[in-house]
Formats: sequence, C-alpha cells, structure tokens
Amino acid sequence: MKIDVLTLFPSVVLAYLKESIIGRAVGRELVQIDVHNIRDYSSDKHKTVDDSPYGGGPGMILKPEPIFEAFDKNDLWKGRKIFLSPQGNSLNHNMAERLSTEKHLVILCGHYEGVDQRVCDKMDEEISIGDYVISNGAVASLVLIDAVVRQIPEVLGNCESVEKDSFANGLLEYPQYTRPAEFRGEKVPDILLGGNHKLIEEWRHTQSLKKTLLRRPELLEKAKLSRDDKLILNKIK
Ligand SMILES: C[S@@+](CC[C@H](N)C(=O)[O-])C[C@H]1O[C@@H](n2cnc3c(N)ncnc32)[C@H](O)[C@@H]1O
Repeated sequence: MKIDVLTLFPSVVLAYLKESIIGRAVGRELVQIDVHNIRDYSSDKHKTVDDSPYGGGPGMILKPEPIFEAFDKNDLWKGRKIFLSPQGNSLNHNMAERLSTEKHLVILCGHYEGVDQRVCDKMDEEISIGDYVISNGAVASLVLIDAVVRQIPEVLGNCESVEKDSFANGLLEYPQYTRPAEFRGEKVPDILLGGNHKLIEEWRHTQSLKKTLLRRPELLEKAKLSRDDKLILNKIK
C-alpha cells in the first residue's frame, strides 16, 4: 500500500512513522508513506497557504491553489482521497479494514478554521476521528494511518493479533493480565493460571460478552452471536 499525507506539519507525522508497528511496516516495505508539506506548493514568495474566509468570520482557511498543486505535481488524484474533518463519518473498525485493502490512500490534513470547500468537494470521503475538534489534521492522520496499517496482512508480528482486538469480532476484548500472579492483594483469575486452553478460551469469550454488554451494549446488536452466546448474555443480565 502507498499512503501520501498532505499537511502543514510534516515533522509531526514523520516522527510517529518511525516508531513501533508503523515504523516496522515501513521498514519491511509493507507500506510506503510519503509526507508532503503543503507550504512547499505555494507559489507566492511568502509561501502563503491560508487566507481569510469570504463573508467574514474568525480564523483562516487553507487556500485551494497549493493543495491542488500538490495533488498535480505528485500525481495524487488517482488515489483514494480522504479529507480529515470533524464533519466526516466517524472512523471505526470496519472503515479501517476497508481502507486497508486500498492500493493508494491520499490523506489531506486541515488546519486553522478549515479548508476551502472546492478542495473538500474533490475528495472521495471525509473522515472524523471523533465528535470533538482538534487543532491540526496531522494528529488525526496518525490515528487513521495506524488504524489502517495494522489491518494490512503481515504488519502485526506473531505476538500481536488483529483478530483478537476489540471490535474485530464485534465485541470488546477480554481482560488481560501478566505477571505477577498476585499484586497488592489482587489475584489473577485462577483459570488463567491453570493452563487449560479450552477453558481459558471459554472464560475469555464470556468476559468479552460481559464487558461488551456492560460498556457498549449497542455493539451486541450487530455482533454475530451464537445460541450459546445469547444464553450467556441472558444469564449475565
Ligand atoms: C480547528 S479544525 C477545523 C474545524 C472546523 N472549523 C469545523 O468546525 O468543522 C482544523 C483541522 O483539524 C482537523 N480536525 C479537527 N478535528 C478533527 C476530527 N475530529 N477528525 C478529523 N480531523 C479533525 C481537520 O483537518 C480540520 O480541518
């Protein structure tokens, strides 16, 4: 997969791309990520990228010319074009999975009050990382990139698994413990220490159902539940 990111803050994006799972995926060439500074595509001598909004109002708006120029010069129009915006559809597991099958993503990060609508109109979709406003789309791009890249086959090593993660099977993940078996009077559930993998799997699945019911009951409406799952849930209720 190839990902191009257009931002006014390349260093914010580049710093994270060197780290951990994403850094390894880039190193193993499972994904190629190029970061473009929108300011480099401004043609005026002050490298202006923003201007005040027509009709008045607070703040500044990213101008269309440098962004269009960046798309033209880097041949980005053919990729799946995403504008990060609090007004977009909320990012979720299914969306990340869907985007991980794309060959080429182009992610546009806004700043200031936003981006000229003529740019937004050229995008394939707008994605939000949640119902709140942050100051800089570069931060949102890291959330999107991470969520998408970890869904690419082979990106996660043997020790990590996307299938067991929350949302992958429609449920929240079960509680996890590590050594020591007792800490400040709190004990790890006996079943996890017993080594019976079948019982451990059953316990974990029940805990997943329980946690989802308590925290995100609406997820259960869409999850694929077996007859046994429904019986377990009825007992918990
Ligand atoms: C200060 S925000 C602009 C918010 C805009 N005035 C509005 O009310 O919709 C600047 C940029 O940060 C990014 N951003 C802010 N909140 C976001 C969110 N929840 N999801 C994705 N991107 C976001 C967008 O790229 C946005 O253009």
